[in-house]
Amino acid sequence: MPTYARRVAPFGTTIFAEINALAQQHQAVNLGQGKPDFDGPASVIEEAVSAMLDGRANQYAAGYGLPLLRERIAAHVAARYGLAVDADTGVLVTNGASEGVYAAILGTVNEGDEVILLEPFFDTYLPAVLNAGGIPRYVPMRPPHWTFDTDELRQAFNARTGAIVLNTPHNPTGRVFNAQELAFIAELCQQHDVIVISDEVYEHLTYDDHCHVPIATLPNMFERTLTVSSAAKTFSLTGWKIGWVYGNPELVTGAWRIHQNIVYAVNHPAQYGIAHALTLGQDYYDELARLYDSKRRLLVDILQGSGFHVSVPQGAFYVMADFSALHDGDDLAFAKFLIEQVGVATIPPSSFFCPEHRHIGAKTVRFAFCKHDDVLHAAGDRLRKLAQRV
Ligand SMILES: Cc1ncc(COP(=O)(O)O)c(C=O)c1O
Repeated sequence: MPTYARRVAPFGTTIFAEINALAQQHQAVNLGQGKPDFDGPASVIEEAVSAMLDGRANQYAAGYGLPLLRERIAAHVAARYGLAVDADTGVLVTNGASEGVYAAILGTVNEGDEVILLEPFFDTYLPAVLNAGGIPRYVPMRPPHWTFDTDELRQAFNARTGAIVLNTPHNPTGRVFNAQELAFIAELCQQHDVIVISDEVYEHLTYDDHCHVPIATLPNMFERTLTVSSAAKTFSLTGWKIGWVYGNPELVTGAWRIHQNIVYAVNHPAQYGIAHALTLGQDYYDELARLYDSKRRLLVDILQGSGFHVSVPQGAFYVMADFSALHDGDDLAFAKFLIEQVGVATIPPSSFFCPEHRHIGAKTVRFAFCKHDDVLHAAGDRLRKLAQRV
């Protein structure tokens, strides 16, 4: 009987698909996947529609991405972070950050290179590293502060290290790496001649006095960094799958060579929409951060009032919550129990760790707060009843 390649044998169904199916079956309030239940700006959607109606965008886009969008990405990065990115050779538009990270890893990691993954990590990083022939080297971050141990990270770097994958603001922990953490990583990368693939899809979602700093802005880091971002979270348009990779043209070329042979080009009308989105003023970003800050506070209050011990997120739109006081099982058992018995869906994070470190996340689940307030309140009503039962 014909079967799939050995290469894909370890890549089972993602936890997101599993949880979504179970949530649907039990009609649970779904705080699992990081998918807003509200739309992005109307003017952005109108621009994509008009690019279809007036015939600007119904054929293939340029492989590297719509030139106007690449210019706007370069301008955005220059205005926000002071980085001089070449719009023609230093920006690649991808099918979301997912393809961006994949193309960046496949395009820069050589077979046999070690690639450092900070745990918990977004689940697509590992298959990308394995498909590149890379060897994952895991460095855990631990609750409640979710940072790395500097000695452990230093020891993970060696002559075989090719790359490190970073994610800040971080999914699922809500950490925003601070200047000290970034400087420590940058120094090790320079010492060992290591490339950084920096996933910054939550770059505009930080809270309190936490501030997002792209590692590419640190001295001597631009040349060795590919930064990945996306319109998905910033413009609440996850369905459009528009992301991008920017950085040193030499490294972007690596990502491009993978990209051209997988997707070649990305959805054309949506690129017009996002090119328009990148002209929105500071008010848009302020309002987005304010909206999410209020949802963050609401969910943190609900969880604390329901018996969870919470790591208050500094960025992104997730809360990692320790459920030790509520349930004896591990995260997968608790997530299933919550869906089936309580009617709330969350993501169990242990699959974002290697088997050896899985225990670190085994008493936590991840709640997403990119939902209408009434959805968060509905989840709260159910969770409070759970607390009363315990
Ligand atoms: C850390 C991180 N990277 C990448 C992605 C995927 O982004 P996109 O939808 O643009 O492919 C997500 C989505 O949840 C994410 O959380």
